[in-house]
Amino acid sequence: MNQLVEWVGDYTQELKLAHQSLEQRVEERTQELELARQSLEQRVEERTQELQQILQDLKETQGQLIQTEKISSLGQMVAGIAHEINNHVNFIYGNIQCTNDYTQDLLNLVNLYQQQYPDPNWTIEEKIEEIDLNFINKDLPSLLYSMKMGAQRIREIVLSLRNFSRLDEADMKDVDIHEGIDNTLLILNHRFQSKIEVIKNYGDLPLVECYPAQFNQVFMNILSNAIDALLDQKHQSDKNKKIIINTLKIDDTFIHVGIKDNGSGIPPEIKNKLFDPFFTTKPVGKGTGLGLSICYQIVEKHKGKIEVTSELEQETKFIIVLPIKTEIN
Ligand SMILES: Nc1ncnc2c1ncn2[C@@H]1O[C@H](COP(=O)(O)OP(=O)(O)OP(=O)(O)O)[C@@H](O)[C@H]1O
Ligand SMILES: [Mg+2]
Repeated sequence: MNQLVEWVGDYTQELKLAHQSLEQRVEERTQELELARQSLEQRVEERTQELQQILQDLKETQGQLIQTEKISSLGQMVAGIAHEINNHVNFIYGNIQCTNDYTQDLLNLVNLYQQQYPDPNWTIEEKIEEIDLNFINKDLPSLLYSMKMGAQRIREIVLSLRNFSRLDEADMKDVDIHEGIDNTLLILNHRFQSKIEVIKNYGDLPLVECYPAQFNQVFMNILSNAIDALLDQKHQSDKNKKIIINTLKIDDTFIHVGIKDNGSGIPPEIKNKLFDPFFTTKPVGKGTGLGLSICYQIVEKHKGKIEVTSELEQETKFIIVLPIKTEIN
């Protein structure tokens, strides 16, 4: 009997031990599984992030490609047209001075005739009245003057179109930023519709080393957006629409360009999406959503910074800080 009790005791002990070791193994396995699950989750998380980054990069590259293609084909077209017009307008402009001299000579000659022969026969008198010689005498010079002014204006526009596209300048240049802004404003002139006032507070800027055509593109995109925001405004239509451009030299290394409009402003919830490629709030066909993303890339390439501040229904301000000398690698 005692022997039996002893055996049962031993077996119970063994069973207990076996149970404990089993529990421990189950515990260990559970921990291992938990670790495996965690590391799996982490890897999935990492992969998702990698994929998101790749998607973002792809979107940016796609946007860049489209925009580069758009800019370069547009630039080539603009430069081509500007070149064509340039030849002919120079021809007109150059000849106007000559025409002016000739007509002045002819009018002087007619006057001289009138003085020398104060009593012309009736045929001549009739013709003088018919053509209203007095009026021609007064009007012709001012007519030629306005033609000259018109031709001069076309020359300026053509010049700014050529400067704007600046396809001939593929390299980095020391550039007068104010000239770039002025050229861009001239090109956008038709969009101001005399409803928008442009105020320029230009500081004393040094020449800035950059790719000029690219920087003109930055001004073009920001100014076009400002014009859109001012013209699309539903509220405060009686408010004076303004674009204020500020430039200043911060120190020996950096300059600052600020472009502010008192248009519709930007809702806070979309503020951090503005520079994303293809982000637009404009109707289909009007905006591609590439303008600001391209500005961002150009400024970044020049080792500068672009930021935006805005107050809804009040104002939007884009600030660009640029190094005076850029080392692009
Ligand atoms: N000055 C501004 N005032 C208000 N909203 C602005 C201003 N500038 C940009 N935005 C907002 O930022 C969005 C993105 O601008 P972005 O220039 O990148 O694209 P877009 O103007 O819509 O199209 P596009 O490619 O033709 O320029 C605009 O759709 C607009 O909602
Ligand atoms: Mg735009």
